[in-house]
Amino acid sequence: MKILAIETSCDDTCISIIKIKCQRSKIKSFEVLSNVVSSQVKLHAKYGGVYPFLAKREHQRNLPLVLKKALKEAGNPKINLIAVTVGPGLEPCLWTGINLARGLAEKMKLPIIPVNHIEAHIVANFIGEKSKVLFPAICLVVSGGHTQLILMKKLGQYKILGETRDDAAGECFDKVARILELGYPGGPKIATEAAKLPIANFQFPIKLPRPMIYQKNYDFSFSGLKTAVLYDFKKRSPKTRKSKQYIQKMCAEIQQAIIDVLIHKTLKTAKDYKAKSIILAGGVAANKELRKQFEGKIKREIPYSKFYIPDSKFCTDNAAMVAVAGYFNRKGKGNWKKIKANANLRIDQKYGSETC
Ligand code: KG4
Ligand code: ZN
Repeated sequence: MKILAIETSCDDTCISIIKIKCQRSKIKSFEVLSNVVSSQVKLHAKYGGVYPFLAKREHQRNLPLVLKKALKEAGNPKINLIAVTVGPGLEPCLWTGINLARGLAEKMKLPIIPVNHIEAHIVANFIGEKSKVLFPAICLVVSGGHTQLILMKKLGQYKILGETRDDAAGECFDKVARILELGYPGGPKIATEAAKLPIANFQFPIKLPRPMIYQKNYDFSFSGLKTAVLYDFKKRSPKTRKSKQYIQKMCAEIQQAIIDVLIHKTLKTAKDYKAKSIILAGGVAANKELRKQFEGKIKREIPYSKFYIPDSKFCTDNAAMVAVAGYFNRKGKGNWKKIKANANLRIDQKYGSETC
């Protein structure tokens, strides 16, 4: 079976075609035949964030080209299903993908599977040879718009245990990078500067808060961290603010503060729920230091729990993950004419056959 998937929930225009291989009616692998991502980063960089109507216009402009490229790279195969992200995300952007899916479905006489973007991030862990995840699993989804701890009892069964009360972890990276004048998206910029920090840099003893780290709930808060960075930045002289020693030290401390909170809270949740697996997902999961420290901590503290992270290129937005989610939700297919965008869709909300 081959699935064509479309993802336009934010500022990346993505189309992918995947092939599902089965053996004795069990899924063996999700092979990516093409995975085209057209990033709008340069366009939004000058504003330091994403402007929905600008992003929508870019999606409309890019989609025909991205589609052509994805089909060509995959060798123009016969498609069996179309999957499209319907939420959460920026509503005008979501509609561009849905409208393309509708047009294709009509032309190719194929069903459309609506996909939840957060579920897609989670199942990005299955791309390639399908891993055998043991349940219950605790999923940490960390992206530009979400930071959620989710209990996954089995595929398709999710319960949100906690989430951020203000900014998402990726949003915090982005906002702090803007304060430090490093550009957009902030996560990769901060990670690059942090990696340059020499081991012995005692010039700027910066200590940022680890918000809500020891609280008993499963929620997060990152806006205080951003404010702490702003205060520190403002009290420095213009010369210090621009010095590479200060920037590197500050970036390393921001990254570590976010990592400390994410790891501590996830491990606590995993212990509380006796999780057999821990699943990391979302754009921030591409962070090398986070991946390394997570793996080490899990091995030391809960070695009975298996740890999954997608390949870095499938952590940030892409349509291959949407195709995999489409496959798992294929039974919920319905009338493609009724599929609609839902900007605030939650992972524990039904959206399959009920809404389409
Ligand atoms: O999942 P994603 O591509 O889009 C959303 O669904 O939001 O995540 C984008 C977020 C951005 O905030 C970006 O700064 C962050 O992921 N990000 C990173 C890294 N790469 C992307 N954060 C930290 N380290 C990275 N290497
Ligand atoms: Zn995303």
